[in-house]
Amino acid sequence: MKLLIEGGRRLQGRVRISGAKNSALVLIAASAISGGEVILDNVPKISDVLTQLEIVRAIGGRASWTGENTLCLDWSGPLEGELPYVHAKKLRASNLFLGALAARQKRVKIPLPGGCNIGSRPMDLHLKGFHLLGYQVSMKHGFIEARAGKIEGNRIYLDFPSVGATENIMMAAAGTPGITVIENAAREPEIVDLAGFLNAMGGRVRGAGTDVIKIEGVSEFRGARFSVIPDRIEAGTYLIAAGISGGEVTVENVITRHLQPVIAKLQDVGLDVAAGEDRITVRRSGDLLPTDVKTLPYPGFPTDLQSPMMALLSLARGTSIIVENVFENRFQVADELKRMGAKIRVKGQTAVIEGVERLYGTQVRATDLRAGAALLLAGLAADGVTEILQAELIARGYEKVVEKLGALGAAVRMAGDEGGEPGAKA
Ligand code: UD1
Repeated sequence: MKLLIEGGRRLQGRVRISGAKNSALVLIAASAISGGEVILDNVPKISDVLTQLEIVRAIGGRASWTGENTLCLDWSGPLEGELPYVHAKKLRASNLFLGALAARQKRVKIPLPGGCNIGSRPMDLHLKGFHLLGYQVSMKHGFIEARAGKIEGNRIYLDFPSVGATENIMMAAAGTPGITVIENAAREPEIVDLAGFLNAMGGRVRGAGTDVIKIEGVSEFRGARFSVIPDRIEAGTYLIAAGISGGEVTVENVITRHLQPVIAKLQDVGLDVAAGEDRITVRRSGDLLPTDVKTLPYPGFPTDLQSPMMALLSLARGTSIIVENVFENRFQVADELKRMGAKIRVKGQTAVIEGVERLYGTQVRATDLRAGAALLLAGLAADGVTEILQAELIARGYEKVVEKLGALGAAVRMAGDEGGEPGAKA
């Protein structure tokens, strides 16, 4: 799938932000714990979500859309304890069924997960947690298997506040007798969403959003209705789009607090930011200024907006430095941006970006989801036409991106329009 962008148009207007990909993916998996019917609102119809639903169906759950963004999940039937490799390899978040199925049926086998090509992404922290809860964990022939031995709550310290490990351990612990305490837990808003959802299903989770999460195991769960938080990464991407195109964009349906680290950087680069409780407007009134960015676990600057930020800083008046502290392989986009005229040097986890006057449209390739978003942003500002190959990667995380950008005045289309809006089908 190709995306074509005719650069040079200022974006102007308002855009409604969809539900968060990373929250929807974990809530869909967690819904299995209910053993009943769950309704999720504000679920983005993106291809990662559609893949997660294929897994739901393959293991015996039922899933149907009952509204544009409302999903009904029914887990009342018997389940398979093994995830099919063919679906799981497409998506890193397939690993979240490990915690969900452990909580539900104390035995689970999942293929080593696939997903974006942004580093080694091991599972050691997840497995350490399962081991400490009393699971026998084995990893062979490309599968991870966890079987409950004598399971009991425990104190689990994470060496790094991994989002996925925190989520998997929270889910497993929710169905493990006794009290589990996760220390150095991830603090991302998606963790708080998961805790709220587990509690809505009858779980007992406290402290989510801090680095110590306490989970009291329960034996009974129930169905629930829950709404997914807005996608702070999608919102950040549109705010950067305003900056890079030289326009003014308001993102609506956001939780401004979740975007504080991003707002701070947008102000550093000289953009005007006006923030209310659930909407943010970004306007560019002058030159873009250079700045330094360090990615960190929340509430630090999110690694998922690092590539989009690199595109923006490519056009700043001066030299910026980005240090990537979360994933070791997230600078692949630099080579593609350089094809568009950016001046970037990468050494290890550091990128030095010397701002240029202009970028030029050419053929580039999305190497991962957020790299694709960065190229799309660069294309908005570039002279001429940018053609992004492997643009289906962008559809993994951005709902109706062509339609939303079009409504803001951008000239973006799928090549030949034969594919329609990515992720809109099924
Ligand atoms: C999630 C997000 C992803 C985001 C990332 C960091 C989802 C579906 N994806 O990914 O968009 O970029 O958080 O905010 O929610 N690590 C280990 N051992 C482990 C687990 C992780 O060493 O057992 C390392 C990883 O290799 C990586 C770092 O920890 O370097 C962060 O990973 P983690 O927070 O687990 O990210 P994900 O949950 O995979």
